[in-house]
Amino acid sequence: MTTIRDVAKEAGVSVATVSRVLNETGYVHEDTRKKVQNAIQILNYSPNEVARSLYKRESRLIGLLLPDITNPFFPLLARGIEDEIHRQGFRVIFGNSDEDLQKEMDYISTFIQNNVVGIISATNNPDNSNYQNLEIPVVFLDRTSNNYPSVYADGKIGGRIAAEEIIQRGSRNITLLKGPTHVRPAQERFQGSLQALSESDVDFQVINTSSFSFEEAKKWSKELFQKYPDTDGVIASNDIVATAVLHEALRIGKKIPDDVQIIGFDDIPQSSLLFPALSTIKQPAYDMGMEAAMLLTKLVRKQHVEIKTIKMDVTFMERQTTRKVKAHG
Ligand code: RIB
Repeated sequence: MTTIRDVAKEAGVSVATVSRVLNETGYVHEDTRKKVQNAIQILNYSPNEVARSLYKRESRLIGLLLPDITNPFFPLLARGIEDEIHRQGFRVIFGNSDEDLQKEMDYISTFIQNNVVGIISATNNPDNSNYQNLEIPVVFLDRTSNNYPSVYADGKIGGRIAAEEIIQRGSRNITLLKGPTHVRPAQERFQGSLQALSESDVDFQVINTSSFSFEEAKKWSKELFQKYPDTDGVIASNDIVATAVLHEALRIGKKIPDDVQIIGFDDIPQSSLLFPALSTIKQPAYDMGMEAAMLLTKLVRKQHVEIKTIKMDVTFMERQTTRKVKAHG
């Protein structure tokens, strides 16, 4: 790898001179600057970000921690973050925690070693002391804390909308899939659905689930239709779980949405690619990412921030796994 020494040798100047050119500090004669820039181009040299940031006592690195990049919801968040961070002249270094606390904490220390100036994290452990001890700003995203700057979608309302839409379209024997208890947004949407179902006159039952894994969801879907063969509506904890329910319903010969309606949560890109396409509650993932990035960069720049907790609206995406309202008029 080309070093600053190689550049100095190529330009016939000292390492200190190259450093002054790179960091636009101190005096450098214009001819010398041109020689150094020429050498940088010829050798295709790119300064070590950490060294440069340490030299200039500033970094443009932001740490991003997500719990599961195999879940299509999270890349949407990451896209919104990356676009905004890039627009603001910062760069992202990324870690996937697999919802493993040790791995998550390892990433926090890696971020600090790389001199990040702020962190965005979607975590099940927002109140962990490792976050409390950080001297740089942290914004929690999607999986948040009441004690820190946070951006999330209104899951409670989302859960209520899912229940109201499926009832309005005729379901009278509904199965509500309760998402993993350690995932805050999953519990908020569950509470929203449970409240709406409890206020209604329809029959309903709850099935507990412990993850958003498709493989496990296939197992719960079999149990669901074995235990509740007459269920005519399923509210799933997210789109991946809803997809497993849809597969099982079709496998056992159910007509969708006539025999059973299904509603997911997230609106991952795959949901509209399914056949029938999945009706779901859309979380504005890209915008959530952008908001988190805007909030963090303000905090990094020590700008005054009025609102540190941003709750974003969700929407019902009507597709083919729910009946048309008018059909029931
Ligand atoms: O699909 C993953 C789920 O976990 C999403 O619903 C999101 O809210 C996340 O926390």
